Amino acid sequence: MKYGHFDDAQREYVIDNYKTPYPWINYLGNKDFFSIISNTAGGYSFYKDARLRRLTRYRYNNVPLDDGGKYFYINDNGSVWSPGWKPVKADIDNYTCRHGLGYTVIKSEKDALEAEMLFFVPLGDTCEVQKVRLLNKGHKPKSIKLFSFVEWCLWNALDDMTNFQRNFSTGQVEVEGSVIYHKTEYRERRNHYAFYSASLPVSGFETDRETFLGMYNGFDHPDTVFDGKPQNSVAHGWSPVASHCFDIELQPGEEKSIVFVLGYVENPDDEKFTAPQVINKTRAKAMTSRYDSAEKVIRSLAELRKYWDTQLSVLNVNHPDPRLSRMVNIWNPYQCMVTYNMSRSASYFESGIGRGMGFRDSNQDLVGYVHMIAEQSKQRLIDIASTQFDDGSAYHQYQPLTKRGNAEIGGNFNDDPLWLIFGVAAYIRETGNWSVLDEIVPFNNDSTNAASLFEHLNRSFRHVINHRGPHGLPLIGRADWNDCLNLNCFSNNPDESFQTTENQKGGKAESVFIAAMFVLYGGDFVKMALKRGETQLAAEAQKHIDEMIRVINEYGWDGNWFLRAYDYYGNKIGSHENEEGKIFIESQGMCIMAGIGLDDGRAAKTLKSVNERLACEYGIVLNNPAFTKYYIQMGEISSYPEGYKENAGVFCHNNPWIIISETLTGNGDRAFDYYKRITPSYLEEISDLHRTEPYVYSQMVAGKDAFRPGEAKNSWLTGTASWCMYTVSQYILGIRPDFEGLRIDPCIPAEWDGFSITRKFRGAVYHIEVMNPDHKSKGIKEMTVDGTIHRSDILPLFAAGTEHNVRVILGNK
Ligand code: BGC
Ligand code: NOJ
Repeated sequence: MKYGHFDDAQREYVIDNYKTPYPWINYLGNKDFFSIISNTAGGYSFYKDARLRRLTRYRYNNVPLDDGGKYFYINDNGSVWSPGWKPVKADIDNYTCRHGLGYTVIKSEKDALEAEMLFFVPLGDTCEVQKVRLLNKGHKPKSIKLFSFVEWCLWNALDDMTNFQRNFSTGQVEVEGSVIYHKTEYRERRNHYAFYSASLPVSGFETDRETFLGMYNGFDHPDTVFDGKPQNSVAHGWSPVASHCFDIELQPGEEKSIVFVLGYVENPDDEKFTAPQVINKTRAKAMTSRYDSAEKVIRSLAELRKYWDTQLSVLNVNHPDPRLSRMVNIWNPYQCMVTYNMSRSASYFESGIGRGMGFRDSNQDLVGYVHMIAEQSKQRLIDIASTQFDDGSAYHQYQPLTKRGNAEIGGNFNDDPLWLIFGVAAYIRETGNWSVLDEIVPFNNDSTNAASLFEHLNRSFRHVINHRGPHGLPLIGRADWNDCLNLNCFSNNPDESFQTTENQKGGKAESVFIAAMFVLYGGDFVKMALKRGETQLAAEAQKHIDEMIRVINEYGWDGNWFLRAYDYYGNKIGSHENEEGKIFIESQGMCIMAGIGLDDGRAAKTLKSVNERLACEYGIVLNNPAFTKYYIQMGEISSYPEGYKENAGVFCHNNPWIIISETLTGNGDRAFDYYKRITPSYLEEISDLHRTEPYVYSQMVAGKDAFRPGEAKNSWLTGTASWCMYTVSQYILGIRPDFEGLRIDPCIPAEWDGFSITRKFRGAVYHIEVMNPDHKSKGIKEMTVDGTIHRSDILPLFAAGTEHNVRVILGNK
């Protein structure tokens, strides 16, 4: 069942049934100010950090779902409704919610009154702009009341939801004309405040929640709205809110628009007040004046659209299947940009107060957006590398505001360091900017202890060599990519975290996955060393890689697939000898991507095992058979019920590793088949089962062993976005940035006739047409560049601003 449709021309997903199977959200904001907004106008706003600078309240885990948002209420002669359906939930007609790139428009109608709410965060400003348009479609004049509503969060979201003994007494506001200012704690150490303005004079307002709602009422039944009588309350403590009230007359056919600005302002310490206790509003006024008419708002929205035109123009595929094109051209890159902004902090599954920026996550996310924002990607890499320790190890996470490593979580996730090589290599492949390796970057943010970025990568590489276990395989530490494979944590205490506990002395468990990563990304490190003329270093590194390949071949092969790990006792994990968890996905993908088994038939054997044992209708599950009980020596993985999360869920992030592996063996049919199983646009028809947004990837889909296979969770903030973008564009469509230039190497379903792609790369524009007259999956029969036969599969580099035509005919040479 569908709840809407894609409008590709507008780059929107249009929801026409407000009862989506879960709130379907969108993100507003590109830089400092962000909002999350659901299809019924739920959600919240924050400045930079969803925990420390949260502007408006939101209640996770609430009943009913999705409570707290940017609400509007209409009182049309006693009939009260909300254009977003929630919170009033009165019946409405013609509801549509258009989630576009950085904006959302919700439009609905009731009793011949049309209401349209536009929400977006303008480029370069620290506010959310809202425009409400009301149109009388009837034959009689209408006299209605419109109410806005937001509830302020007292800034620190965690404190706000726990420290009531203090917070019920701190709330403060000011009201001036149509602007409501939220200034809790401004009197002391904060130099920031928020405001909510309106472009029309108000007929009344409310800033005290209890007055607005009435004691014991919910958002669905505010007294002020139902009585139609704002009390002009001024909050003192308790829960400050902001609600404007307008009396609006509309003749038949007449429409009126009101613009609202929800803004965040910082003042210098010596400019905080204009009089005792009175905040300096100059900056707020300047901000509202930028949006004080519908025309200005429309212009600002047009700029936002232009920004996205530019971002998305870097890579554009033209393919007969719209489900593919819309993912590659619109939604997948959009989601990747959201992961750039949010990492894993704020979504409807991430509370905004928990996780910071993951070391491995941030490096992997980068491959999904580096082609759009190369400069910011470089800064991101430097930020990440600055949290690395000088022995090559890494904090598992760092805080977005301070950019410091998070000591509470610590390190010892032994895959982390290698992801930095992956991220840096992706940046160089895209930009050709080798000089990034010369950037001087501190260790652990200590400027007195700094080295080149290349040296950081060297330390990452050495960290693996210096931490090898009994078989010569890399020690896993607390966990590798799979946070839940906690082989050195034997936890029988429900009050401790699996991930920060590493209580087995010596930590001897080993990871085949990290071994394969070492081969794959170590290979990139060798190439970088060679490029820098460090031949001896390169030769020595290559020896270590060769040795690791030997060790994987000797201790990492199980007969029909690759082992996953050795546990603390040296027992095999992911072997046919095990009763449960005989095979794991991660090491299969990583070993084949590293080239292991490609020339001796083991890769094919492995992929056959994956297909037989792990693949299911909804994707490829993480392990099989699922764990049916808790194994103390395995950790969190066995804590999940069968089929969920890391215990045999379809953990979408790692599916691309198998898809890439399929392309490396030339199996374009299967590669694309797997791609379709997890790609949301292909799941739109089963939205009622899938539940999460059909325009973005989810971290996890319940696997074949689950109670409800096919049900997704944790949409938006997942490494799946970047890995899918990387896989579909570089390995299936096969337009792959490499150190020397753009490589052409498609691996597609044999039935495809072809496709074309426009790709901006290092300043030039390539118009690439791929034709498949012989219906092959892989291999280039002939290629021409600007009409001339071109024999290498790497395209020449061209001067910036020039455009070139590339024709590729697939087939046997
Ligand atoms: C989840 C993982 C996640 C980790 C983050 C675990 O509970 O299963 O997917 O990466 O928490 O700390
Ligand atoms: C989600 C985490 O963000 C990521 O770092 C990890 O690799 C996966 N879970 C798998 O556990």
